[in-house]
Amino acid sequence: MSVSVASLYKTFVKLQGKTKVLQDIDLQVKPGEFVTIIGPSGCGKSTLLKLIAGLDNEYEGTIKINNQEIAGPSIKQGFIFQEHHLFPWLTVEKNIAADLPLKDLKIRSRVDELIEIVRLKGFEKAYPKELSGGMSQRVAIARALLRDPEVLLLDEPFAALDAFTRTHLQDVLLELWQQKKTTMILVTHDLDESIYLADRVVIMSARPGQISNIIPVDLPHPRKRASRSFQEFRQKVLSEFEKVEELQLVEGSGI
Ligand SMILES: Nc1ncnc2c1ncn2[C@@H]1O[C@H](COP(=O)(O)OP(=O)(O)O)[C@@H](O)[C@H]1O
Ligand SMILES: [Mg+2]
Repeated sequence: MSVSVASLYKTFVKLQGKTKVLQDIDLQVKPGEFVTIIGPSGCGKSTLLKLIAGLDNEYEGTIKINNQEIAGPSIKQGFIFQEHHLFPWLTVEKNIAADLPLKDLKIRSRVDELIEIVRLKGFEKAYPKELSGGMSQRVAIARALLRDPEVLLLDEPFAALDAFTRTHLQDVLLELWQQKKTTMILVTHDLDESIYLADRVVIMSARPGQISNIIPVDLPHPRKRASRSFQEFRQKVLSEFEKVEELQLVEGSGI
């Protein structure tokens, strides 16, 4: 499924006044494309993702999924939040199944398979309070994958995880993407992650959030983080990112 964002503006109105958060965002994501978004904290990445997810309908501009203007959340889209949002009163397996019946054999076997994939075997019957933050996030990831979404929106899904789990889950995500041709939009503040996964890296600048650059990643999969081509690419993205940060420092200094 394609995702198309055109001339998108978002302003939060509070008692203290208005905050312009997103300004003139244009982004076309092709079906089956993997796009990552990086940008400084507070630049509006989560806001943008929530708008695409249909979780907030107060904006100017157009957001289309498969050429259809969005009208609220859709089951065709999966969303993995920065915080995991588990049900504290449900076990791991029930959190993954959520509204789907675990008694259904097909769902049962898919849940078991996902529990292995996210490395939570042995914790099926555990409750969220017994899990670490990283484990909880893995439950949330399994829950989203179970639904086979055609568009998966991920908001810093691996930020709380240790490096080993993080790289493992990046590979899980890549495998899923290659198998299912899911359209992926992933927000991250990890430069390596953005390059490891993406067809294109979108760089955002802040106040108000704008797209400052979109860089295609023309490295074949599987990518090797330590390879020279990867490191050269990293330099390229980093220098673009630094330009954004310098710009902000100048703006922020009031000169
Ligand atoms: N519900 C909200 N009400 C008011 N302001 C908000 C709300 N959500 C986010 N903001 C503001 O919008 C800006 C962007 O936030 P966010 O999208 O979370 O940034 P990011 O994910 O890039 O760190 C921040 O200045 C934040 O304070
Ligand atoms: Mg955020």
